[in-house]
Amino acid sequence: MPRTGKTIPAGELTAKVAVVVGTRPGIIKMSPVIGELKRRGTEFILIHTGQHYSNNMDRVFFRELDLPESDYHLRRPRRGSLHGEQTAHMLKGMELILLEAKPRLVLVCGDANTNLAAALAARKLHVAVGHVEAGFRSFDWAMPEEHNRVMIDHISDLLFAPTEECRAHLLAERVRGEIFVTGNTVVDAAIRNSTLAAEQSRILKRLGIEKRPYMVATIHREENVDGRERLGQIVSILNAVTREVGMPLFMPLHPRTRSRLETYQLYEKLEDSEQIIPLKPLGYLDFLLLLGRTRLVLTDSGGIQQESCTLRVPCVTLRENTESTEAVRVGANLVAGLEERHVVAAVRTMLERPREWANPYGDGLASRRIVDVVAGWEPGKGAS
Ligand code: UD1
Ligand code: UDP
Repeated sequence: MPRTGKTIPAGELTAKVAVVVGTRPGIIKMSPVIGELKRRGTEFILIHTGQHYSNNMDRVFFRELDLPESDYHLRRPRRGSLHGEQTAHMLKGMELILLEAKPRLVLVCGDANTNLAAALAARKLHVAVGHVEAGFRSFDWAMPEEHNRVMIDHISDLLFAPTEECRAHLLAERVRGEIFVTGNTVVDAAIRNSTLAAEQSRILKRLGIEKRPYMVATIHREENVDGRERLGQIVSILNAVTREVGMPLFMPLHPRTRSRLETYQLYEKLEDSEQIIPLKPLGYLDFLLLLGRTRLVLTDSGGIQQESCTLRVPCVTLRENTESTEAVRVGANLVAGLEERHVVAAVRTMLERPREWANPYGDGLASRRIVDVVAGWEPGKGAS
């Protein structure tokens, strides 16, 4: 029958929930939600937007986390596309998928372009949206992730806030949807997979650090890597930290970071340092074990700030601000900016800090709480 309107009439919606993934952190953080939907027999489909596509940024997590094959998988956005083109490509693809699948609810997780595209496609078709990880704010309006978070939160029906602070941000912005404080699914994933990581990962042996202290660093944020000067500054800072502390520093490189290091001819500078060891992106189990046993992590990643807090690993954030303010509040994280002496001082402070904080990101049951709401929710009726 030819379509006469631009939306999906409520009567045509099916019982299915559409779970959307597309980036490394989204796959990892959605994995416990998918596990819980499976366990309860809640009808769902899995949609992959194609944003991340390299084996070590995508497939590896499906294998390790025992995730089902996606029911729909969009072609990846054109290499080198800007935010608009990348988001538009996924928006258009998601719209066609939703028109065919007609789910009663679309679930997105996090702040990547994937999630904005999926949420917007659903909203325009009158399909309800649930946002897992709603309410994080860095209040840094230069970050693409901050634009995405704000927009997604304002077009969501169900807002799954990891913490009370997130809920307070959402209330202050007077979002329209219903808010549920659930904890962060990153905790669920870390708890569920830590034993498996300890049993299966050989990363410590492979790197020769079973009995040696070491540090870890990850950098990939647009504002840190997309300019020669700032990325060069980060390389110098990491060199200074290893000199001061006298420990090797392992650095799994996001493909974006590796490509920028090569373009700016900074990769050699990293490799020349005796103490910095660049690595390919690691699988989740390897990374979880490496992170769990490190003395300290230096990062600009949102997920890793929350994960390190969960694993009681001190964190120094190489940014001027953070949306993971809870980790800072409990003493698990220091936001050091990009001045060398501040970063070195922060590393010293964090290496000595007792790892006694309580985890503000939850108890590992976030995915259960989310699926409780999702399972009882029907279009037009609100949460049960
Ligand atoms: C995206 C998210 C960021 C998140 C990060 C997680 C946005 C705006 N940003 O940033 O919030 O923290 O994912 O990792 O959505 N590339 C590959 N293989 C891949 C993926 C990326 O080679 O599988 C390279 C490509 O050169 C690509 C570049 O990395 O152009 C950037 O990828 P993109 O998905 O645009 O952004 P991320 O930096 O990954
Ligand atoms: N991660 C991984 N391998 C790596 C680096 C990170 O599996 O080499 C995982 C990490 O455990 C965390 C997630 O990727 O769960 C964080 O993703 P990323 O830093 O890319 O994105 P962000 O959280 O900043 O959006």
